[in-house]
Formats: sequence, C-alpha cells, structure tokens
Amino acid sequence: MRIISLTNLKGGSAKSTTTFNLAGSLVEAGFRVLCIDIDPQKTLGEAFFGVYAGENTLSSVLINDSMIGAAIRPTSFENLQVIPADDGLKGIKS
Ligand SMILES: Nc1ncnc2c1ncn2[C@@H]1O[C@H](COP(=O)(O)OP(=O)(O)O)[C@@H](O)[C@H]1O
Ligand SMILES: [Mg+2]
Repeated sequence: MRIISLTNLKGGSAKSTTTFNLAGSLVEAGFRVLCIDIDPQKTLGEAFFGVYAGENTLSSVLINDSMIGAAIRPTSFENLQVIPADDGLKGIKS
C-alpha cells in the first residue's frame, strides 16, 4: 500500500482537483484507491464524487476512535472509494 498526501494550507491551490484526477489515473492504471478528504470544505466527497458522509464519519474516527472501515463510502467508479469530509472536522486542530 502506498500513501500519497496532497496538502497545502492555501485554499484554491488545486488539492481537491489534483486528488480526484490522480485517483482516476491510478484506477485506470490498475490500482485500487481510497481517497480520504480531511478538509471540512468537503469539496472532494460532495462536489467531485457526489458522496456524502454517512453516520460513521471521519471526525468520529479521529475523535472517538471509531472503526475507519465504517466511514468508507463507495463511489460510482469501480476500485475507487472515498471517506468524505464532514462538519465535525472543523473542530479538530492540528
Ligand atoms: N490545473 C488547473 N488548471 C486550471 N484551474 C484549475 C486547475 N486545477 C484546479 N483548478 C481550479 O482551481 C480552483 C481550486 O481548485 P481546488 O482543487 O478546489 O483547490 P483546493 O482543494 O486546493 O482548495 C477550482 O476552481 C479548480 O477548478
Ligand atoms: Mg479542496
């Protein structure tokens, strides 16, 4: 398993766009991809994938030690899953 992290404090620097397109390219190349969106702006999950956080959210994983597997959501693309961001992430400071 490889982990690729796309981070930049500056908004509008193409993090979400790059993540979405890189994920698609990797799936096309035969990889299985899990995208994890930690930005409570929620662009990747909601705007790009059309996937909303369910009852089990990433913030509950980080705050309450919930099982991360329960936060994984399918997308309309084969071999491409996402953990969408959720409002609870706004309260988490680095
Ligand atoms: N390669 C690119 N060329 C032109 N516009 C881009 C490119 N990548 C992203 N954008 C645009 O820049 C804006 C910000 O991108 P976004 O991925 O939402 O940034 P971030 O996630 O860093 O806030 C969006 O309007 C997006 O369409
Ligand atoms: Mg973004």
